[in-house]
Amino acid sequence: MRILITGGAGFIGSHIQDKYIDLGHDVTVLDNFSTGKREYVNTEANLIEGDITNESLVREVFENGKFNLVNHHAAQINVRSSFDDPINDCRINVIGTLNILKAMIDFHVPKIIFASTGGAIYGYPEIIPADENTPAVPGSPYAIGKLTCENYIRNLSELYGIRFTILRYANVYGPRQIARGEAGVVAIYTERLLDGKAPVIFGTGNNTRDYVYVDDVVKANVNAIGMGENGIFNIGRGVETNVHEVYAAVSKAFGDKAIEAEFGNAVPEVERIALDATLAKNGLDWVPVIDFETGVNITVKSFMSA
Ligand SMILES: NC(=O)c1ccc[n+]([C@@H]2O[C@H](COP(=O)([O-])OP(=O)(O)OC[C@H]3O[C@@H](n4cnc5c(N)ncnc54)[C@H](O)[C@@H]3O)[C@@H](O)[C@H]2O)c1
Repeated sequence: MRILITGGAGFIGSHIQDKYIDLGHDVTVLDNFSTGKREYVNTEANLIEGDITNESLVREVFENGKFNLVNHHAAQINVRSSFDDPINDCRINVIGTLNILKAMIDFHVPKIIFASTGGAIYGYPEIIPADENTPAVPGSPYAIGKLTCENYIRNLSELYGIRFTILRYANVYGPRQIARGEAGVVAIYTERLLDGKAPVIFGTGNNTRDYVYVDDVVKANVNAIGMGENGIFNIGRGVETNVHEVYAAVSKAFGDKAIEAEFGNAVPEVERIALDATLAKNGLDWVPVIDFETGVNITVKSFMSA
């Protein structure tokens, strides 16, 4: 299959790229390297350096590419930056996505896999783990943008017959994660310890996230090639892990090189979230297999040897 991966030089996209190439697909990566790294682009991928907000470039890529599938991961992923500069967030995440969707329609690409967020889209849900029927109450420009993209995808699918699989990720972590953004606390603590600095726990540290290892997320993207037609799926483990537990897992992986955590002032953020992924089990044949401690160990080792 001829597959375009936007954001294929980034953390999650580059792992998907490697797996798709292993499986024999013809992969093109479109990335502007704003956070992605050149060394993450597989030597067997066709690389196009460019920006998804550049409409004429996107059209040229699609005209030449004759893709059978788009896997759309390029985005501005920093929730806090989206508060500081909502226009830039909208330009990249919403207008950029519309450029991709418009080109798909015009150049007859039948399906998109879209990286959305389960960690940010549900706001403060009453029931945790939250399933896909939980009302979306996006609490940030970033989450508003992702929900808007989901709505455009659904609408354009009805109008033009494009098929889609929307994956609402929990907090993805693993090797190559950049130490900032929506969900980078494992990477942030790992990098601080590697630099000989104390990890900082903001506020009480009792706020929770649902951590899912990147290889499990890649598996969802593999299964979504042929399954999950026109479905929206949470991709998470359904387990709440608080910041103290993240610090404990990362410092355990560092052994006697670990440094005591420091405490900082609370920052406004979602207090608790975990995702119910029963729908992905049924519709995508997907279950996460990597537990948090194992995933953190692999991640810390990979950062140490990078
Ligand atoms: N990391 C998570 O926990 C998480 C959770 C929910 C959703 N997501 C979504 O998954 C996707 C990938 O996230 P990630 O963690 O790998 O982030 P990342 O920053 O590592 O990857 C994003 C990639 O997109 C590229 N990019 C950014 N703006 C671009 C533009 N205008 N044109 C072309 N390329 C551009 C970057 O250079 C980078 O390679 C994003 O859509 C993000 O919103 C991530």
